[in-house]
Amino acid sequence: MEKPRLEINRFDSLTQCCTAIGSFLQVFIQSSIDRQGYCTIALPGGKTPTTLLQSLSRPPFSTTVRWSKVFFFFGDERIVPLDHPDSNFGMAQRNLLSPLSITGDHVFSMPVATRPYATAARQYQETMAKVFGALTSREHPYAEAEYPAFDLILLGMGADGHTASLFPGHQALHQKEWVVVVEAEQAMMPPLPRLTMTLPLINNADTALFLVSGAEKIRLAESFLPNPSSSCLPAALVRPRQRLLWYLAD
Ligand code: 6PG
Repeated sequence: MEKPRLEINRFDSLTQCCTAIGSFLQVFIQSSIDRQGYCTIALPGGKTPTTLLQSLSRPPFSTTVRWSKVFFFFGDERIVPLDHPDSNFGMAQRNLLSPLSITGDHVFSMPVATRPYATAARQYQETMAKVFGALTSREHPYAEAEYPAFDLILLGMGADGHTASLFPGHQALHQKEWVVVVEAEQAMMPPLPRLTMTLPLINNADTALFLVSGAEKIRLAESFLPNPSSSCLPAALVRPRQRLLWYLAD
């Protein structure tokens, strides 16, 4: 398989970095809308994206991006109520979705209340299949693939090199389902059970964009960039079809 086009962008501050990502998203989302009438994005989890989502919820991006044409999913989720402080949906709701009045029919949170957890994972796969089935015309370049083709997956990276809820050495790295359960382990912060998109699903996307902040994580990222294939860390295994973008903020 062709390697994605890699782009590494370094910034002195998280604010500058988030403004640059906003400018990229403005063009990327508009080109998706021009091409197919919509844009599908998987939002990231953790704390770092808070600054990014707040930046997108304010001018100029709040008014220059056609947010009503974007369909939002989540790359992973902690299995807690959606209003819990550790919920990735809650973070996105507070910082982007609610401020932009993005309505529920364009936002697909993971079914964190469903038990057992495996059923929740399957339910989210069914939701993605339904939405992408309705959106994706036969002409979509990846329409025949066994995974939905997100236009963009936004990701972070942990200090151990995990991304989404794909942790080093975890069996989830080898699973072929679209969404899997990752049981809580002490090494995870917070140590909560999670649902996560898998690598085959993430790598079927057109573009993946990492936002990484802080000297320790930047050192780790630079230990395998610009040659991610030199590493088996989960974040280094992300290889989307077209473009792989790393935004690094000191
Ligand atoms: C999660 C995220 C995870 C996150 C990294 C970095 O749910 O925790 O998906 O992959 O991006 O852990 O998190 P911070 O931005 O909080 O450091």
